[in-house]
Parts: sequence; structure tokens; C-alpha cells
Amino acid sequence: MQVIRSIRELQARADTERAAGRRLALVPTMGALHAGHVSLIEVAREHADQVWVSIFVNPTQFDAPADLEAYPRTWESDLEACRAAGVAVVFAPVAREMYPEGADTAVEVGELSKPLCGAARAGHFRGVTTVVTKLLLAAKPHAAVFGQKDFQQLAVIRRMVRDLNLDVEIIGGPTVREADGLALSSRNRRLDPEARRQALVLSRALDSAEDAVAAGERDGERLLALVREEIAKAPRARIDYAELRDPDSLARAPGLLKEPTLLALAVFLDPTPVEPPAGEGVRLIDNRVLHPHA
Ligand code: PAF
Repeated sequence: MQVIRSIRELQARADTERAAGRRLALVPTMGALHAGHVSLIEVAREHADQVWVSIFVNPTQFDAPADLEAYPRTWESDLEACRAAGVAVVFAPVAREMYPEGADTAVEVGELSKPLCGAARAGHFRGVTTVVTKLLLAAKPHAAVFGQKDFQQLAVIRRMVRDLNLDVEIIGGPTVREADGLALSSRNRRLDPEARRQALVLSRALDSAEDAVAAGERDGERLLALVREEIAKAPRARIDYAELRDPDSLARAPGLLKEPTLLALAVFLDPTPVEPPAGEGVRLIDNRVLHPHA
């Protein structure tokens, strides 16, 4: 496994592999790798001869400096996970390599970036789309894999790739969950045991909405009330958003569900029993597409 830190070197290796007829798949990450990332690597392997992983904690997608500071960094175990998963190249640039002095260009997707996490985190998707474009241009992969847990991120990246005619296939990898239902996330390691236990309200809220739809409920407000009720059971959980949206356009879903509908959740888990000021805490997201006709 080769660790590459320079964009030029990465591009040269991509040119060599492509000239030899090998298909490349990139899994972009911010490190703190867990079984969810390993599953994305496995998905990538089904689409390529070589899997490459980028590890870069992208400063431009964090709206709060404290969140960037607190983001877990686990370089040694990340490398070990990549080695064990048979990754061919790890691209790990420093911030100055990705954003040289005077860098003044950004990539931004319009409407899809505005609701949900876009509304809650100013500039977040602009940072994501800018860095993903730069990673794609650096690694020149045939395919790139992103987790479906970040539903809106995947939608925004697909739209960007389509709109800019980027020659890369974007693949969504399924959300991996702990046995008790908690979606794997690098942020989970910031939860103390009690917050970890209370974080289960996210998947339980999704389950209860899904069960209600299966039992015939179609009223969006009543489904959201069920979600809020479930989350209110955890005293250390605070809803950032709980919304029903069209899975393609991310437009607000109609009051009565007729078509498959995205239920998207973002919840703050307070790391201590003393509630910190609004906006702090560990922010977890999860989602489910509800199928009224299933
Ligand atoms: O999903 C992530 O880890 C990040 O948003 C990504 C896609 C690697 C861009 O920094």
C-alpha cells in the first residue's frame, strides 16, 4: 500500500494505472475509519481493480472551529484498516496541498445544498463539493463511493458530477449499523456511554415512522410527531431537524405521503448531563426512505 501526500504524485500514479487499463475506485474519507468505511471499500472493490482511499479532514466543510478541532484523528489505525482492507493507495494531503496560499475557487451546488444540513451548517456543502471536486481531479478515479447515511451529501455530489460532466461514476454504499441499530459514524466515538445509549433514539424514531407507514399512516405531520415523541425519550438528545423530503429534489414532501419519501434526521447528543449552549454537542444524522406503497 502506497501513502501519497502530493497531488502531482497521485495524478502521475493515476495516469500510470489508467494507461495499464486498470479501473480505479476512490473512497473519500475524513479518517477515523470504522466498519462503515470498510464496507464502502468493499463496495468500491466490486467496481474497480484498485481501491484508493483519501484521508483528509477538510477544514472548509466545518462551520464551527470547535467541531473541526474535536473531529477524531486516528491516523495509525486508519492506515491499518486500509492495509487490512487491501487498499492500494492512501492519499493523505496536508491542508496546504489541497488549499494552496491564495486558493480562491469553490464549487457549489444550488438548491440541493440549501435545506437540511445545508440550512443547519452554513457553507458546509460548498466545502464538501469543493474538496470532492479536487479529490476527483487529483485521483482521477473511474468510480467514487459515498455512504448513504449522508443522503443529502450523496445527492449533492451526484448533481455536481452530472452538472459539471465529470467523468466518474458515483456509487452509494448502504449505511452500516451497530447490532442495536445505531448508524456507524466517526462522531460516535465522541459519545460517552450514556449519550451512546440515548443516541439509539435516532434509529428508533426512523423505525417507528416506518412501522407507522407500514400500518397505513400517510399523514406527514403525524409521522413527524411520532419521530419527535421518540427523540423526546432521550433527555440528552436535541433535534436539529426532522423533515420529510422528496428523495430526488429534496423539496418538502406533500402533507400526505403518496410517493417514496425521505425522512431525514439530525440530532445533537449532549456529551455531559449539563446541557451545553445550543449548537454544541455531538451532531448525528440518520435517514430512511419511507415507502407508502410497500
Ligand atoms: O463524508 C465525508 O467523510 C466527507 O464529507 C467527504 C466526502 C470525505 C468530503 O470531505
